[in-house]
Amino acid sequence: MAIYLDNAATTPLLPEVIEVMHTTMTEVYGNPSSIHASGRRARALIEEARKQIATGLGASTGEIFFTSGATEANNMILLNSIKDLGVERIISTTIEHHCILHTLHYIKELGSAEIVLMPVDNQGRFEKTFLENLLADSSKKTMVTIMHANNEIGVINDMSHLAELCTKYKAFLHMDTAQTIGKIPIDLRATSVSFIVGAAHKFHGPKGCGFMYISGANQISPMIHGGDQERGMRSGTENIYGIAGMANAFMLAIEEMPIRTQLMTELRNHFITRVNNELEDVHENCTGAVLPNILSLSFPESPKSTMLMMNLDIAGVAASGGSACSSGVENESHVLEALGHLPERKTIRFSFSHLNSIAEIDQVVDVLKTLTPIK
Ligand SMILES: Cc1ncc(COP(=O)(O)O)c(C=O)c1O
Repeated sequence: MAIYLDNAATTPLLPEVIEVMHTTMTEVYGNPSSIHASGRRARALIEEARKQIATGLGASTGEIFFTSGATEANNMILLNSIKDLGVERIISTTIEHHCILHTLHYIKELGSAEIVLMPVDNQGRFEKTFLENLLADSSKKTMVTIMHANNEIGVINDMSHLAELCTKYKAFLHMDTAQTIGKIPIDLRATSVSFIVGAAHKFHGPKGCGFMYISGANQISPMIHGGDQERGMRSGTENIYGIAGMANAFMLAIEEMPIRTQLMTELRNHFITRVNNELEDVHENCTGAVLPNILSLSFPESPKSTMLMMNLDIAGVAASGGSACSSGVENESHVLEALGHLPERKTIRFSFSHLNSIAEIDQVVDVLKTLTPIK
């Protein structure tokens, strides 16, 4: 029986979500733009979903726009903020997801804004005073784009602190919250953030569906033009099944956040305790403020650990080496490189969900004991 520990790449759909999507597929077939009853029913479903997501984040419904996922949302926010908000400089870090880094690279090539990538330490943390100095040092209209939590090592960046800093220096703040929606409480009434994003498949919703929050204070233009759906911000007939499933998954994640967090923390703690007690020379790539569902471990060089990922797969354990959502092949991870991770060591990201159990963790550690040096 396979053990799925790759929940930072994507999560399985919950049965409740499947049921909601199935009902929507069967019963709600009208085009939300049609004015007849069938269309109105589909429109009502979308607006109910928008309200649920807005309420859960402390936003207003007019600030939530549905997209195909976090990648699309991040692209649109970065590209169109330059054009519409007059952003002249974007400050980010070297360990962002590729949908940020590659977009920033594209912006740099176009020459449309200055791009500054801050280095991080060996735990993935940037220097706060470095950021403050950058913000204080220039009169250029600036956007700070920093992920709320990193998808490979789980390091968490403090949203409130960044919001205070950006407010102080009148910079826009965009946070890639793809890994934290439904995992870390976010209250946009209390935190001055210009943009955040979500991808349903990271919180047990469907793939290919997400959203962006654009603070009412900031107006940017769309990236996709057409029939003016999403109040003109994202044209194309809405993915109603995805949106219904995403809203349901979101509500469950918000309601169950404390219990899921506790469960995942127990799994993580149990995993690392056994690893520290029973395996030789394994390092945790990130400690301290880290997501409860991500455990990135660095293994020593050994004959069997060269093929660690493949051997885990053969043993029925699904985990990840680098960033699974950016490639089908195992590439050198830009995140691990930025951390100064030694290439001869092997890193595996184990990422949990509340659907995993202690018994599964025990089985995985037992497998690891056959693949890497033990004490
Ligand atoms: C931090 C982060 N941002 C963005 C994305 C992209 O999400 P999607 O592929 O659903 O658009 C991911 C997916 O792994 C992610 O982890």
